[in-house]
Formats: sequence, structure tokens, C-alpha cells
Amino acid sequence: MMKNNQPSQHQTLSHTLVGDRPIGIFDSGVGGLSVLQHIHQLLPHENLLYVADSGHAPYGCKGGAYIEQRSRIITEYLLAQGAKVIVIACNTATASIIEKFRQQYGIPFIGVEPGIKPALALTKNHKIGVMATTGTLSSERYKELSQRFSDSANIYHQACPGLADQVEAGLTEMPETIVLLKKYLSLLTAEQVDTIVLGCTHYSFLVNPIQAIINHSIKLVDTSRAIAEQLIRVLELESLKKKSEGGSILYFTTGSIHNAEVLMSCLLKKKLIVNALP
Ligand code: DGL
Repeated sequence: MMKNNQPSQHQTLSHTLVGDRPIGIFDSGVGGLSVLQHIHQLLPHENLLYVADSGHAPYGCKGGAYIEQRSRIITEYLLAQGAKVIVIACNTATASIIEKFRQQYGIPFIGVEPGIKPALALTKNHKIGVMATTGTLSSERYKELSQRFSDSANIYHQACPGLADQVEAGLTEMPETIVLLKKYLSLLTAEQVDTIVLGCTHYSFLVNPIQAIINHSIKLVDTSRAIAEQLIRVLELESLKKKSEGGSILYFTTGSIHNAEVLMSCLLKKKLIVNALP
């Protein structure tokens, strides 16, 4: 006879099925692919659904109501596909809606926020620069985050309007992008920061041009991998890890399919098929 504390056959089966359900990931556009890359590397057997809201990007200059409306449409699409957990691979959307969505929807949400804490472990002169969207920097969530660490370092906040748009347009190495980067980076280097936080997932695709501009002693903080590690912890804690082998990735966009296929294939360095978000 089965002991009371052992799972019944039905419970075991339903757990296996929950594990097989996909992980939903979304961003205002292609920036969140930087997070998806690490998730796929660390969890190759999980099924991933990635939604790029490129038809409505950028989020960084839009109001909270608009970001909430877009995030809700995508979240509900991912839930309809059976998502067992959702990664908001966007600092701006995380700052705006994650707490509300955690309360409203019955699954775990993992968000992204500027890596001030890891930057504190790296800085020698206690001067940290944060590059992010206007939306992220003006959010209550970000203000609380930077306030929490304000005794440990001087934190310089740099809004970077236009930068995510350059990545969305596939212009990461183009002269207009370099001009924008030089402008924003010079404002931070003038403060002698020795560590710069990439507080927008799109900026992960600008690491090469950024490194070509800044002094090599300045360290860059990108939390994409830490998000994937956090996802593993949540999946383990909630017993949501997929048990079977062989994962898949499906890509969706709300923008032009052709543009998305060209750009996403270029950013991930492999030929991708992208679907329209129904
Ligand atoms: N990738 C997004 C972020 O991490 C925002 C870019 C945008 O849409 O403005 O904040």
C-alpha cells in the first residue's frame, strides 16, 4: 500500500506534464534574446516561446498604461500556450508591471533589473554608471533599488533614448549608433565611473561598440546570465523543471516577419524562422 506522503500516480503524471509546458519570454523587441541565449544554454531541454513586441517598440519612452496593456496581451497569449513561468526580459516592463502581474496571474514571473548589486562587487572607486531607458530610470522600482545601495556607491543614472531603437533597426555598429553611445558614455566617464551597468536588455548587443569606446579598465555588468540562473532556481523550487530530453524554441514577433527573421538570425548567429503573434 502507498504511504500517505508519497505522490499518487496521478500527481506524478501531472507534474511531468507541467514540466513539459513552455517557458514564456518576452521583451519590447529583440533585446530579450540576450536573456534567451543564456536560458537555452543552461536549460537546453526546456521548450521556450519568445515574443518580441517589435511592432510596439520601444517601451522606454511610453507610459505605464501602454506598457501594461502590451505586456498583458503578450502574457495572456503565453498563458494560453500553457506557459509554466514567464520571464519578462525587459527592464522597462519589469519596472512597470511585474508586481501587479505576480499578484494577478497564478504562475511565477521572473524579471530583469539593472545590476547595481553585482556592480558593487566590482567597483573599486565606488562610482557606478547605469545606462537604461527613461521608463526604467523614472520608475518607483528603480528609485527604490538605487536608493537601497546609495550608501555603498555613487550611482550615476544615464537615460539613453534612441539606443534600443538602433538595435531594433539592426544598426548596432553604424555611425549614428556610435555617436549616440559616445554621447551617453562620455557623460558617465566624466564622472569617473569604473563600472557601467547595462540596464536594458537591448544594450547587451552593443557590448562590442561600447568596449571600443570606453577605457578597458571600465567593467561592464550584464545580468542576462544571472536571470537564467534565477530561472533555474525558481523551476527547481516550484518543481517545474522539464524532465524529458529535447527542447524547442519558437519565436514570435508583432512586427514585420521578414525584418524579425533577418535581425534575430543576425543577433543569434543562426538562421531562424519567426512567426506572427496571432
Ligand atoms: N529591452 C528593454 C529593456 O530592457 C527596453 C527597450 C525599449 O523598448 O525601450 O528595458
